[in-house]
Amino acid sequence: MTVNKTVLVIGATGNVGPPALSRLVEAGAPVRALLIKDDPNADRVPDGVEVFHGDLAEPDSLDDALDGVDAVFLMWPFFTLPVSTAPEVLAKIEQHARRVVFVSSVGVHIGLERRDNNCHAHLEELLEKTTLEWTFLRTTGFMANALGFAGQIRAGGTVHFPYGAAARTSVHEGDLAAVAVRALLEDGHAGQKYLVTGPEVVSQKEQVHIIGEVLGRSLTWQDVLAQDARDQMVASGWPPAYADGALDYFAQLTKEPEVGSSVVEEVTGEPARTFREWAVENAARFR
Ligand SMILES: NC(=O)c1ccc[n+]([C@@H]2O[C@H](COP(=O)([O-])OP(=O)(O)OC[C@H]3O[C@@H](n4cnc5c(N)ncnc54)[C@H](OP(=O)(O)O)[C@@H]3O)[C@@H](O)[C@H]2O)c1
Repeated sequence: MTVNKTVLVIGATGNVGPPALSRLVEAGAPVRALLIKDDPNADRVPDGVEVFHGDLAEPDSLDDALDGVDAVFLMWPFFTLPVSTAPEVLAKIEQHARRVVFVSSVGVHIGLERRDNNCHAHLEELLEKTTLEWTFLRTTGFMANALGFAGQIRAGGTVHFPYGAAARTSVHEGDLAAVAVRALLEDGHAGQKYLVTGPEVVSQKEQVHIIGEVLGRSLTWQDVLAQDARDQMVASGWPPAYADGALDYFAQLTKEPEVGSSVVEEVTGEPARTFREWAVENAARFR
């Protein structure tokens, strides 16, 4: 891997940013993290990373962070930020960097996301119009999404959510970060639209059973009405259209399991981690 590339990580305090930063530091790359001012999660940024302040909502605020950068790890916080500033943000990146690795979604890969719905497909389309060397990581659900069940697991033995049989190939967010780092530092990934998945099909209900086995507790799954879950998701901050999209997709996955890929192993040389491995690493968060 070429380690003399300076990389800026956007979304540095999220699920994927911190493991990506750690791997970039390990690789010896000069690495920067973009944080909004007074970010309450700043302690998630590992040592050895240069912190810059900036906000995707204010493209001019990105100039300092981008000055002298070769490659950018880009995710868009669709839940909390409209895409109206995305064209200006991409223009800024284009002024400074040559390469972008963008966290996209399986929804684009399988044609579920329309290009005009202001989500991952829209960002992909904008990136395709730039002169940047882009790589899209069309990822399945993160294993970290199971943390959404942590409150119910800590409080009792039953998880209430719709579509327990939804069969997913969820990906370890550290594996997604590892693919991203390869694409940021190595040549040969430009123009790729990688479907990034975990190594196996595990239903939502099976995920909860695995967490129970790791904790040494008996956990059960109780399917509830999608409408009830939707109300709770929206109350907890999900934009209604995204809650509907996710629940419709889960319904579809009860009939037709997600299809996995071997991208993690092909790109990183390491096997993709299983959900059980993720549960062991994160057991403390369910206790
Ligand atoms: N979860 C899934 O299953 C899944 C599946 C497919 C695709 N994706 C995509 O993956 C991406 C999510 O990645 P993630 O889970 O690592 O992120 P995340 O945990 O949702 O975190 C969002 C990150 O963006 C930062 N951020 C929020 N608003 C910002 C702004 N205005 N300017 C600059 N930074 C800002 C947040 O900072 P603070 O919160 O610290 O302020 C945080 O670091 C999203 O684009 C999502 O659509 C997710």
